[in-house]
Amino acid sequence: MLTFTPEQRRQFAEDIDGDYRPKTNKTIVLVGLMGSGKSALGKRLAVALDRAFIDSDSIIEQESGLRIRDIFELSGEKKFREIERKIILRYLQGPAIILSTGGGAFCTPETRAGINAHAISIWLDATPKILLRRIGNTSSRPLLHTGDPLQILANLRQKRLSDYQQAELHVRTGRHSRRLSMKKILNILEQNSYIEAL
Ligand code: S3P
Repeated sequence: MLTFTPEQRRQFAEDIDGDYRPKTNKTIVLVGLMGSGKSALGKRLAVALDRAFIDSDSIIEQESGLRIRDIFELSGEKKFREIERKIILRYLQGPAIILSTGGGAFCTPETRAGINAHAISIWLDATPKILLRRIGNTSSRPLLHTGDPLQILANLRQKRLSDYQQAELHVRTGRHSRRLSMKKILNILEQNSYIEAL
């Protein structure tokens, strides 16, 4: 569970216009490709709604004592998906939080079904070019190591589209600022009566 320092809270709050409170006691799960902003925006959403923030990749690393890329290398993607599924399903049973998931989590049918049954899912989407620009250094993203990262991201987006489309809400995090992306996320949550402006 990530707790923010007062300085982080202040910094994240700068990207949030207005005051909001949740009207749902469901967890909000952010899904989408690497670089779509799940962690950066998830932390801000957690501050906006005064909820705890969890990043499933960080929990996997903490609990296994290994980095994601080492799990891929030592045990393979299938094993990683299994660990990922167990951790996400476990957090879905707990109190309402903001949960940021690894980019492929929502593409594992059981994980997706669990999220859709217990939580509100938001698909954060952007073009491969924007995703790659945001990712920057690809060293911690094992799936981008097997060829041209831009092409891999484009292929992954195509391959995963039909899974991501099963998320309940869809927000495009384009070229614009985090502040604008936050506005879009808060707006769509408000329109769907999951939060209210104070
Ligand atoms: C993956 C995305 C990564 C991480 C792992 C696999 C994917 O998470 O879970 O490298 O399959 O797209 P981020 O989306 O947080 O980079």
